[in-house]
Amino acid sequence: MQVLTLVNQKGGVGKTTVALGLAATAWARRLDCLVIDIDPQGNATTGLGVWNPPFSVDHALAEERPGSIASLRATSGWPSENGRPPSVVPATPALAAREPQLMTDPIGANNRLSVALEGINHDLVIIDCPPSLGLLTINGLFAADQALIVTEPGAWASDGVEQILQTVKRISSRRTEPLTVAGVVVNRMGRTRDARYWDEQLRSDHGAMVLPAVRLRAAVTEAAANSLPIHALGTRAGAPEAAAEFDTVFDLIVNCEVSDGV
Ligand SMILES: Nc1ncnc2c1ncn2[C@@H]1O[C@H](COP(=O)(O)OP(=O)(O)O)[C@@H](O)[C@H]1O
Ligand SMILES: [Mg+2]
Repeated sequence: MQVLTLVNQKGGVGKTTVALGLAATAWARRLDCLVIDIDPQGNATTGLGVWNPPFSVDHALAEERPGSIASLRATSGWPSENGRPPSVVPATPALAAREPQLMTDPIGANNRLSVALEGINHDLVIIDCPPSLGLLTINGLFAADQALIVTEPGAWASDGVEQILQTVKRISSRRTEPLTVAGVVVNRMGRTRDARYWDEQLRSDHGAMVLPAVRLRAAVTEAAANSLPIHALGTRAGAPEAAAEFDTVFDLIVNCEVSDGV
């Protein structure tokens, strides 16, 4: 099982969009994918077609109980024709109160999510983080095999990536198994000179770590707004191209086998 955690301390760069895009690739390939939403905004939860869930990831973070994720999984509302709907551990706004509470744990509350995932088995687990490097994101990183950094080709993106790399390094040094970086996804890539400039900057500063870009496309927003995988939008303008970009990133960073035959 591979656990990927999507991070950036900045909001609006596309963490949730890329999480949903990779889950859409897994959907189309009928992989057994679990998406864990640890952002109180719950955008991944609604993007996956789950509304007003009776339980949330907050239950897993409230205590240190191995395997607690097992009873917190809902099935995504994504269609079951032409794909396999992922499982979802939803987020609700109440999760916002958990972060200050975690800070009061005298022996540290960095690894509650990691403990909650013990014994859980899926082909792929995708964790969508809030826009900060606070304790929710730290829990996401302690639970991960790999961090996937998502950024846009905007001002000082490269400096933001550097900060995340430092955090990943510090977390890695505190674990028995290393935490590695799956790569940097440059999302919302436009055709402007400005976008090209910051994209080049990222590529010259972070080299081979930087993955092929995901372009800015209306179809991507439309898929999320309709709680559909991008792969289910058919021939809608830009949808096949966007789906192909997520497939490309997926193939470069995910190394799981199809579980029960397509
Ligand atoms: N490749 C893209 N093409 C078009 N719109 C995008 C793309 N990536 C993100 N967006 C839009 O940008 C906004 C922020 O993206 P989101 O994934 O919510 O960012 P984050 O999770 O980092 O806060 C959303 O409205 C989303 O639909
Ligand atoms: Mg988000």
